Amino acid sequence: MEKKLIEIIKEAGEILKEGYFSNKDVSFKAKKDLVTKYDVGIENFLKEKFLKEFQDFNVIAEESDNSNIEFNNSIIVDPIDGTTNFVNKLPHTCISVGVYKNKEPYIGIVYNPILDELYTAKVGNGAFLNGEKIEVSAEDDFQKALISTGFPYTSGTCEVDLNDVIKKIKVILPKCQDIRRLGSAALDLCYVAKGMYEGYYEMNLKAWDVSAGIIILKEAGGKITNLDGNKYVLFENKYIVASNTKIHNALIENLN
Ligand code: IPD
Ligand code: CA
Ligand code: CA
Repeated sequence: MEKKLIEIIKEAGEILKEGYFSNKDVSFKAKKDLVTKYDVGIENFLKEKFLKEFQDFNVIAEESDNSNIEFNNSIIVDPIDGTTNFVNKLPHTCISVGVYKNKEPYIGIVYNPILDELYTAKVGNGAFLNGEKIEVSAEDDFQKALISTGFPYTSGTCEVDLNDVIKKIKVILPKCQDIRRLGSAALDLCYVAKGMYEGYYEMNLKAWDVSAGIIILKEAGGKITNLDGNKYVLFENKYIVASNTKIHNALIENLN
């Protein structure tokens, strides 16, 4: 299944690449939440291929109506993660596909066709970037940790969420090496997986933002929890906290 998935996702990557260098029809789903004809086009392409190739799975995808689709044997798709980057030609944008069997992680694939980075992981087999094994960093000193985060689209409409973002940055920033906000949750998780960041946290993410990245990070030796330090549950938790494992407790402590 993994090989076929990669083949299909690479084909979809060509559509993303074409769109990245062309004019996009941008519309707004919400005050800050963009969508383009390429989000929809890539999603339709992937859905059609996946449903034909993998008939034991349903597909849950960002731009679709998922209300009648039960999460179980599911392929969870974000056709473009980092749409704002895609629109602004900032090369941190990707296709994210997470495969779950009986709700359990199975295969994660994140593909950035602009930088030609393909992150893959199958549970029990480790994580890879373009076929080379990747691992989380060994840094255990929080003061030396590079932390990544993201800002929720609700920061434009919900003062409670905005205040929470600022409050957490105020605590974390002086205590760590620095903070990055690159604009793709799927890639953020992969960057922790390859040891570029020590940790990452964000609120209000959707299952398709993280379905693949959490499998890749886990397989690279990372840890993913909710804000309490307990198991992160897809579709349920407000916060995701991810790390190289070593700084996890310090990150959780500082966030609370
Ligand atoms: C977004 C990105 C971003 C994160 C947002 C997500 P989208 O996904 O992952 O990094 O901060 O919360 O919604 O809208 O580009 O698919
Ligand atoms: Ca996304
Ligand atoms: Ca998206």
